[in-house]
Amino acid sequence: MGYEKQAFAKADVLQLLKEYGSPLYVYDEEVLRNRCRELRTLVKYPHFRVNYSAKANTNVELLKIIKDEGLDVDAMSPGEMYLEMKAGFTADRIMFIGNNVSRDELQYAVDRNIYISVDSLSQLALLGEINRGGQVCLRINPIIGAGHHEKVVTGGKKAKFGIAIEDLPKAQKIADSYDMTITGLNQHIGSLFLETEAYVAAAAQLLDIAATLPTVQVVDFGGGMGIPYRHEEETRLDLHKLGQELDDLIATWVEKHWPIMVRIEPGRYVVAECGIILGTVTAVKNNYNTYFVGCDIGFNTLIRPAMYDSYHEISVVPAQNREYQEYEQPVYLVGPICESGDILAHDRVLPVCREGDGLIVHDAGAYGFAMASNYNSRPLPAEVLIQKDGKIRIIRKAQSLKDL
Ligand code: LLP
Repeated sequence: MGYEKQAFAKADVLQLLKEYGSPLYVYDEEVLRNRCRELRTLVKYPHFRVNYSAKANTNVELLKIIKDEGLDVDAMSPGEMYLEMKAGFTADRIMFIGNNVSRDELQYAVDRNIYISVDSLSQLALLGEINRGGQVCLRINPIIGAGHHEKVVTGGKKAKFGIAIEDLPKAQKIADSYDMTITGLNQHIGSLFLETEAYVAAAAQLLDIAATLPTVQVVDFGGGMGIPYRHEEETRLDLHKLGQELDDLIATWVEKHWPIMVRIEPGRYVVAECGIILGTVTAVKNNYNTYFVGCDIGFNTLIRPAMYDSYHEISVVPAQNREYQEYEQPVYLVGPICESGDILAHDRVLPVCREGDGLIVHDAGAYGFAMASNYNSRPLPAEVLIQKDGKIRIIRKAQSLKDL
């Protein structure tokens, strides 16, 4: 493998770093639009909408593109609803999926006429108090779970999310006592699946439940559609297969019941692959026979490797022309944060790095900037967008020390 094979085709990495600072988040508009289109046309059933799960990335300029592509959005907090409205989403295109939220947070959504999903009997009653006579969506815990790490599996008896299926009669009673109508059911089995089985089984189960609740007008099967972070080893999720399987389920159901609205809620699939992080090699050393390549991308910039042991492909862009040569043994790529767990990649085959070389962390558009922090009092990096016309636009300024 040579340097050129590893690099992000469109970006002049060293130039971007010089212009906008290091580290830097870079997004590709065309990739983002393509992912939106793939999902929007996932099923043939006409009453189908995609809610982009904005927790993955709430940059307002990206949200505007996603809106332009015809997706709706979900929100987990007033902050997300606020940013979505800033991007131009109207209330009817936003769904607030609360988990242990406060009365004030529910009130924020009620005041703006935003559809709310509650995920416990206690939150249902709280919503009843402030929105008597309103409509509500219930988040079910489907027990079926999936995900790339135990921390992101959301369906299952020990997961904190959703109402137990056996408690639905109780939920109905609470809703009745506040004259509320249960108009929707939603669920989310977890984050990152590359095989369709669990998702489709959970979707079938949700439809079965919907058949017992005649007031339900919308079912939302959740997100979790994965991307292959290991480019060589993992195969892409077969969206065609997923679409067909969902279409079959929906067609059978609608034939027997009523023309229900179907929604899905992907976050990662929409934004992961349109984003990269650029960074700079700051120090190299060999200690006790282990190579450490130090760089400026710490877990303050990308927490996924430290938090979930996640894998991201890394490319090196040498600052000066030189022959491609790999380290004779796998290396540690580590950041500037004062913790031993600040490891971007471990046991990784990398070309020999020098101080000043550029780095690319691939597939960083989802849960990248969204989970970045000011830990160690480091300012948040800038975000730039490579537009369809090839022009580069800054979509978030880097923080300065003053911002801290
Ligand atoms: N809907 C609900 C209710 C969710 O909780 C989530 C993600 C999604 C949809 C979107 O899931 P996606 O399509 O993105 O898999 N920070 C972790 C992922 C956490 C996902 C949390 N919930 C990561 O970096 O892998």
